[in-house]
Amino acid sequence: MIQDISAIMFDERQIHTRIKELGEQISKDYCGKTPVLLCILKGASMFMADLMRSITIPVEIDFMAISSYGDSRKSSGVVQIKKDVDVNLDGRHVIIVEDIVDTGLSLKYLKDYISKHNPNSLATCVLLDKPSGHKIEVSVEYIGFQVANEFVVGYGLDYAQKYRNLPFIGILKEEVYS
Ligand code: IMP
Repeated sequence: MIQDISAIMFDERQIHTRIKELGEQISKDYCGKTPVLLCILKGASMFMADLMRSITIPVEIDFMAISSYGDSRKSSGVVQIKKDVDVNLDGRHVIIVEDIVDTGLSLKYLKDYISKHNPNSLATCVLLDKPSGHKIEVSVEYIGFQVANEFVVGYGLDYAQKYRNLPFIGILKEEVYS
Protein backbone atom coordinates (compact mmCIF):
# COMPACT_ATOMS: atom_id res chain seq x y z
CA MET A 1 0.00 0.00 0.00
CA ILE A 2 2.71 2.43 1.03
CA GLN A 3 4.21 2.43 -2.47
CA ASP A 4 0.98 4.02 -3.76
CA ILE A 5 1.37 7.06 -1.47
CA SER A 6 3.28 10.08 -2.79
CA ALA A 7 3.49 11.94 0.54
CA ILE A 8 2.25 11.75 4.10
CA MET A 9 0.00 14.71 4.78
CA PHE A 10 -0.70 14.09 8.48
CA ASP A 11 1.06 11.47 10.55
CA GLU A 12 -0.43 9.58 13.51
CA ARG A 13 0.89 12.03 16.07
CA GLN A 14 -0.51 15.08 14.28
CA ILE A 15 -3.90 13.39 13.87
CA HIS A 16 -4.14 12.38 17.51
CA THR A 17 -3.06 15.81 18.78
CA ARG A 18 -5.73 17.52 16.68
CA ILE A 19 -8.46 15.04 17.61
CA LYS A 20 -7.66 15.56 21.30
CA GLU A 21 -8.24 19.29 20.78
CA LEU A 22 -11.54 18.64 18.99
CA GLY A 23 -12.65 16.35 21.82
CA GLU A 24 -11.81 18.98 24.42
CA GLN A 25 -13.74 21.63 22.50
CA ILE A 26 -16.80 19.39 22.09
CA SER A 27 -16.67 18.42 25.81
CA LYS A 28 -16.68 22.13 26.70
CA ASP A 29 -19.41 23.13 24.22
CA TYR A 30 -21.76 20.31 25.26
CA CYS A 31 -21.05 20.39 29.00
CA GLY A 32 -24.18 19.23 30.92
CA LYS A 33 -25.64 17.58 27.78
CA THR A 34 -25.42 14.08 26.37
CA PRO A 35 -24.96 14.52 22.62
CA VAL A 36 -25.41 11.75 20.07
CA LEU A 37 -22.29 11.22 17.96
CA LEU A 38 -23.52 9.99 14.59
CA CYS A 39 -20.68 8.34 12.69
CA ILE A 40 -20.99 8.17 8.93
CA LEU A 41 -19.62 4.82 7.74
CA LYS A 42 -17.29 3.73 6.48
CA GLY A 43 -14.89 6.64 6.11
CA ALA A 44 -15.34 8.14 9.58
CA SER A 45 -14.92 4.86 11.50
CA MET A 46 -11.33 5.42 12.67
CA PHE A 47 -11.94 9.12 13.36
CA MET A 48 -15.02 8.25 15.44
CA ALA A 49 -13.11 5.69 17.52
CA ASP A 50 -10.47 8.25 18.47
CA LEU A 51 -12.82 11.25 18.77
CA MET A 52 -15.21 9.55 21.20
CA ARG A 53 -12.27 8.58 23.43
CA SER A 54 -11.12 12.19 23.54
CA ILE A 55 -14.54 13.44 24.72
CA THR A 56 -14.88 13.59 28.50
CA ILE A 57 -18.66 14.12 28.84
CA PRO A 58 -21.26 11.34 28.40
CA VAL A 59 -22.20 10.65 24.77
CA GLU A 60 -24.39 8.20 22.93
CA ILE A 61 -23.21 6.85 19.62
CA ASP A 62 -24.95 5.74 16.46
CA PHE A 63 -23.94 4.86 12.93
CA MET A 64 -25.30 5.58 9.48
CA ALA A 65 -23.90 3.97 6.35
CA ILE A 66 -24.26 5.81 3.09
CA SER A 67 -22.93 5.39 -0.40
CA SER A 68 -22.80 8.09 -2.96
CA TYR A 69 -23.31 7.52 -6.67
CA GLY A 70 -20.46 8.77 -8.81
CA ASP A 71 -16.99 7.54 -9.61
CA SER A 72 -14.56 6.37 -6.92
CA ARG A 73 -13.15 9.84 -6.36
CA LYS A 74 -16.04 12.29 -6.83
CA SER A 75 -19.36 12.19 -5.09
CA SER A 76 -22.46 13.07 -7.10
CA GLY A 77 -24.39 14.20 -4.04
CA VAL A 78 -26.99 11.52 -4.75
CA VAL A 79 -26.77 9.50 -1.59
CA GLN A 80 -28.13 6.07 -0.86
CA ILE A 81 -28.72 5.13 2.78
CA LYS A 82 -27.35 1.64 3.43
CA LYS A 83 -27.94 1.73 7.20
CA ASP A 84 -30.28 4.18 8.87
CA VAL A 85 -30.06 5.67 12.39
CA ASP A 86 -31.29 3.55 15.32
CA VAL A 87 -31.35 6.11 18.14
CA ASN A 88 -34.44 8.33 18.36
CA LEU A 89 -32.98 11.75 17.56
CA ASP A 90 -36.09 13.75 18.49
CA GLY A 91 -35.01 16.49 20.91
CA ARG A 92 -31.38 15.29 21.01
CA HIS A 93 -28.16 17.21 20.40
CA VAL A 94 -26.72 15.49 17.35
CA ILE A 95 -23.15 15.76 16.07
CA ILE A 96 -22.55 14.25 12.63
CA VAL A 97 -19.03 12.76 12.47
CA GLU A 98 -17.79 12.68 8.86
CA ASP A 99 -14.46 11.91 7.24
CA ILE A 100 -14.14 14.68 4.64
CA VAL A 101 -16.10 17.47 2.99
CA ASP A 102 -15.26 17.99 -0.68
CA THR A 103 -18.21 19.33 -2.72
CA GLY A 104 -20.34 19.43 0.44
CA LEU A 105 -23.21 17.65 -1.35
CA SER A 106 -23.16 14.51 0.83
CA LEU A 107 -23.09 16.54 4.03
CA LYS A 108 -25.93 18.77 2.82
CA TYR A 109 -28.00 15.66 2.11
CA LEU A 110 -27.21 14.21 5.54
CA LYS A 111 -28.00 17.44 7.40
CA ASP A 112 -31.35 17.78 5.62
CA TYR A 113 -32.12 14.13 6.38
CA ILE A 114 -31.22 14.36 10.09
CA SER A 115 -33.09 17.67 10.47
CA LYS A 116 -36.30 15.81 9.64
CA HIS A 117 -35.79 13.78 12.85
CA ASN A 118 -36.33 17.00 14.89
CA PRO A 119 -33.07 17.15 16.82
CA ASN A 120 -32.72 19.87 19.47
CA SER A 121 -29.46 20.90 17.74
CA LEU A 122 -27.39 19.63 14.85
CA ALA A 123 -23.66 20.17 14.40
CA THR A 124 -21.00 18.58 12.22
CA CYS A 125 -17.48 17.44 13.03
CA VAL A 126 -15.29 16.56 10.03
CA LEU A 127 -11.72 15.36 10.04
CA LEU A 128 -10.82 17.01 6.74
CA ASP A 129 -12.24 19.90 4.74
CA LYS A 130 -11.31 20.72 1.14
CA PRO A 131 -12.53 24.33 0.81
CA SER A 132 -11.57 24.58 -2.87
CA GLY A 133 -13.90 21.67 -3.71
CA HIS A 134 -17.06 23.14 -2.18
CA LYS A 135 -19.95 23.43 -4.63
CA ILE A 136 -22.49 24.60 -2.07
CA GLU A 137 -22.32 26.45 1.21
CA VAL A 138 -22.53 24.06 4.12
CA SER A 139 -21.66 24.98 7.69
CA VAL A 140 -19.26 22.81 9.67
CA GLU A 141 -18.72 23.53 13.36
CA TYR A 142 -15.65 21.36 14.00
CA ILE A 143 -12.88 20.81 11.43
CA GLY A 144 -9.76 18.73 12.01
CA PHE A 145 -7.66 20.03 9.13
CA GLN A 146 -8.22 22.03 5.97
CA VAL A 147 -6.52 20.44 2.99
CA ALA A 148 -5.71 21.36 -0.61
CA ASN A 149 -7.48 19.74 -3.51
CA GLU A 150 -5.57 16.43 -3.42
CA PHE A 151 -7.03 12.94 -3.23
CA VAL A 152 -6.10 11.56 0.17
CA VAL A 153 -6.42 8.11 1.70
CA GLY A 154 -5.78 6.40 5.02
CA TYR A 155 -7.11 6.76 8.54
CA GLY A 156 -10.50 5.49 7.32
CA LEU A 157 -10.48 7.18 3.92
CA ASP A 158 -10.45 4.92 0.89
CA TYR A 159 -9.89 4.69 -2.81
CA ALA A 160 -11.99 1.84 -4.27
CA GLN A 161 -12.41 0.50 -0.69
CA LYS A 162 -8.64 0.20 -0.12
CA TYR A 163 -6.11 2.07 2.06
CA ARG A 164 -8.56 2.65 4.97
CA ASN A 165 -6.25 0.82 7.38
CA LEU A 166 -3.26 3.11 6.87
CA PRO A 167 -2.67 4.83 10.25
CA PHE A 168 -1.80 8.17 8.59
CA ILE A 169 -3.40 10.40 5.94
CA GLY A 170 -1.47 10.37 2.69
CA ILE A 171 -1.76 11.66 -0.86
CA LEU A 172 -2.55 8.90 -3.34
CA LYS A 173 -0.26 8.81 -6.38
CA GLU A 174 -2.16 9.94 -9.47
CA GLU A 175 -0.97 6.90 -11.43
CA VAL A 176 -3.07 4.69 -9.11
CA TYR A 177 -6.33 6.19 -10.36
CA SER A 178 -5.47 7.65 -13.78
P1 IMP B 1 -18.67 15.43 -1.06
O1 IMP B 1 -20.11 15.01 -1.17
O2 IMP B 1 -18.11 15.82 -2.42
O3 IMP B 1 -18.41 16.47 -0.02
O4 IMP B 1 -17.84 14.13 -0.75
C1 IMP B 1 -17.75 13.56 0.48
C2 IMP B 1 -17.37 12.12 0.35
O5 IMP B 1 -16.53 11.87 -0.81
C3 IMP B 1 -16.55 11.74 1.55
O6 IMP B 1 -17.36 11.30 2.61
C4 IMP B 1 -15.63 10.68 0.98
O7 IMP B 1 -16.26 9.42 1.06
C5 IMP B 1 -15.42 11.06 -0.47
N1 IMP B 1 -14.18 11.85 -0.68
C6 IMP B 1 -14.05 13.13 -1.05
N2 IMP B 1 -12.75 13.49 -1.15
C7 IMP B 1 -12.04 12.39 -0.80
C8 IMP B 1 -10.62 12.11 -0.68
O8 IMP B 1 -9.72 12.95 -0.91
N3 IMP B 1 -10.30 10.85 -0.29
C9 IMP B 1 -11.21 9.89 -0.01
N4 IMP B 1 -12.53 10.10 -0.10
C10 IMP B 1 -12.94 11.34 -0.49
